[in-house]
Amino acid sequence: MPKLNENYLNVQDSYLFAEIARRVKAYEENHPDKAGSIIRLGIGDVTRPLTKSAVEGLHKAVDEQTVSETFKGYGPEQGYEFARKAVADYYARNGVSVDADDVFISDGAKSDTGNITELFAQDNVILVPDPVYPVYVDTNTMDGKKIIYMNGTEENDFLPMPDNNVKADIIYLCSPNNPTGACYNKEQLKAWVDYALANEAVILFDSAYEAFVSEPELPRSIYAVEGAKKCAIEFCSLSKTAGFTGTRFSYTVVPKELVFATSDGKELSLHDMWNRRQSTKFNGTPYIIQYAAAQVFTEQGMSECMENISYYMENARVIAETLRKKNIPFTGGVNSPYIWFKCPNGMESWELFDHLLENIQVVGTPGAGFGVNGKNYFRLTSFGTHEKTKEAMERFDKLF
Ligand code: MLT
Repeated sequence: MPKLNENYLNVQDSYLFAEIARRVKAYEENHPDKAGSIIRLGIGDVTRPLTKSAVEGLHKAVDEQTVSETFKGYGPEQGYEFARKAVADYYARNGVSVDADDVFISDGAKSDTGNITELFAQDNVILVPDPVYPVYVDTNTMDGKKIIYMNGTEENDFLPMPDNNVKADIIYLCSPNNPTGACYNKEQLKAWVDYALANEAVILFDSAYEAFVSEPELPRSIYAVEGAKKCAIEFCSLSKTAGFTGTRFSYTVVPKELVFATSDGKELSLHDMWNRRQSTKFNGTPYIIQYAAAQVFTEQGMSECMENISYYMENARVIAETLRKKNIPFTGGVNSPYIWFKCPNGMESWELFDHLLENIQVVGTPGAGFGVNGKNYFRLTSFGTHEKTKEAMERFDKLF
């Protein structure tokens, strides 16, 4: 009989967004007359179609695959050089130097932030903010690793800072934050880098929402902070930046400077380990997608993405305006597509979820799904269409 990984008993029965989808489906089945009026502002899934540059890139790459001279089979597991270079150039345009050799192309920040746990031994102490993107917690729980939490609350503007009395080996940070939309400034990130260097810890930095940062002085990469290459891995993706949620392209930067001693005094490089892991378990992102992504990273490609981002940020403005009108405290929506607000009338978040679904057919994400500190908070995404977002907020306005 196989011995199963019983750590799976310690995670929730289903992943947060799967649970939301299940509840919405059940509601649709029980209320077929209302199914058509449901507005989904729950999972952060985009609604704008792919940009012109991305689509032209896809078409061109597909054509290449039809001709034997340009046809491509297996590609490098780390990603094609042109794609790694396109990522490094994009960083450079944003004022951050990243070596193209340190860039690993993949199919999602979710997969990479989940898979990276393999590089770390069981007895590490994992420090995770609460609330947080549930993948960090679920994947470490599946591994049976010890997780400790730091509180993100109204008092610290949902931006927990390092505590020298807490000893952590691996630290997850997400900025702009999912779910709260809060964004660390450079000084705050420097405090984290200093903590990690002093404690020989590794920061796993999720910058999936970097393109939404609108305040120019805020860092969009942890590598904007000196010393970060000695202590941080960065994960990023085109899912939200370029509407690739269904197209799949991400990149993870594992600097060669990340070298740590083993228990018997040898040295191990996280870059080499990740390279070994990826070449063993991953056959690369499809050529077609990588080619299209490289077109997205051009100046023209990015300016098209920014048009879509402005479109979404107009939704964020509409959501924020309604919450302000109702005197409901919230964060986010300025440097992030997410708005995180206090549940009205002292409700708990799953209660508000049901209340909104039942009464106005609006789907959001209950804060409790992101941690205990989210119990009385709720997240709305600005990734809907203008029409649906406006309609959702009009219904919300009438309900409260
Ligand atoms: C979210 O809604 O938090 C994200 O869409 C989930 C993800 O990026 O995997």
